[in-house]
Amino acid sequence: MTSNLAEQFLLDPDVVFLNHGSFGACPKPVFEDYQRWQLKLERQPVAFLDSRRGLEANLRAARLALAAELGSAPENIAQVTNATTGLNIALQSLPLAEGDEILTTDHEYSALEKTLVFVARRTGARIVVVKVPMPFVSAEAFHEAVLAGITPRTRVLFLSHITSPTALLFPIERLIAEARARGIFSVIDGAHTPGHIPLSLDALGADVYSGNCHKWMMSPKGSAFLHVRPDLQTMIDPLVVSHGWTADNKEPGVRGPLGNSAFIDEIEMQGTRDPSPWLAVPSAIAFRHAHDWWRVAAECRNLAQETAERVRGQFGLDALSSPEFSAPQMVAIPIPPCDPLAIHDALLADYGIEIPVFAWQDRHIARLSCQGYNTRGQMDVLVEALAELFGLRQRHRKLNTA
Ligand SMILES: Cc1ncc(COP(=O)(O)O)c(C=O)c1O
Repeated sequence: MTSNLAEQFLLDPDVVFLNHGSFGACPKPVFEDYQRWQLKLERQPVAFLDSRRGLEANLRAARLALAAELGSAPENIAQVTNATTGLNIALQSLPLAEGDEILTTDHEYSALEKTLVFVARRTGARIVVVKVPMPFVSAEAFHEAVLAGITPRTRVLFLSHITSPTALLFPIERLIAEARARGIFSVIDGAHTPGHIPLSLDALGADVYSGNCHKWMMSPKGSAFLHVRPDLQTMIDPLVVSHGWTADNKEPGVRGPLGNSAFIDEIEMQGTRDPSPWLAVPSAIAFRHAHDWWRVAAECRNLAQETAERVRGQFGLDALSSPEFSAPQMVAIPIPPCDPLAIHDALLADYGIEIPVFAWQDRHIARLSCQGYNTRGQMDVLVEALAELFGLRQRHRKLNTA
């Protein structure tokens, strides 16, 4: 929001970066901490990666810091590389059988839709996709639509907390409670939520919740977690079997070889890999606290919503949702029918704007992210650029035809 904050990031100053949502962006001090860990690793790889010589304590410290931030106990949180991995671990572990049903919505992330199909093919389960009532203006209508999809065969409820194509904040609390009451596993895709909305995972009560730290928490790419309720952890199998596997995993209370729960050791030991992104999570959390990031986020939210309204206003298009159901710092803005790739490419080439533009169902969308490094002036550039590209105003920028 201020040039001061923009200076804290490594982003190319020639790009109007309005796509924090895809891969995040890491502040300089956090990135430096990440590189410090990597240098330490490279100076003495054996000492660094030997769990007896400090690695396990370092991993645990990161787990502790993250657990405090997310409102859960460190024993329930395992480090994974990304939310896709965390959700794959959980979905591929669930005891599904022929004819069981996985209930989900038509707003899910495409990679996880594929994971559901993969799981369904392997197990014989059926995927039931609920159409979410749009525009999204009522939690009640959402709850009713999802609950109407439940049958006696429903075994899994799979929901995004913040959706990717539509940037909606799904009110999932009641659905998680309903699933629990009916013996249905709730599996939540929280790829966009850590650092984006305050989270209290224990209070939320989902059976499985996987989220990325590398998006809105602004830690280095490759830092994410899988959270599983304590009583279900013995059900979870690792995708990669390595030193952490214990044949006796299925007995509650069994410790893994590194002294953590079997759940954590099985998932975190995956063969040789660089744990530095995860080890830098505490400095991302410290950076956020030092800069009062929830206040920054609230300003970003206002700017994102206001910009979305300006764009919609000039096209005369309705919002996808009422403001309380929009992800705070990410808004899916409807734009007129177009070739989305051509608009994306023109925004980047002619105006230096990086923003995802795509077709989703019968809509065309520009998904605006607003983070602390963005400015009001950048939002003006976006509003103006869209007006020009759709012929509402004459182009006064020289096209880059090279
Ligand atoms: C809703 C949702 N789920 C999952 C993912 C996957 O995240 P990752 O690639 O970090 O696993 C994304 C990525 O943008 C997403 O938007």
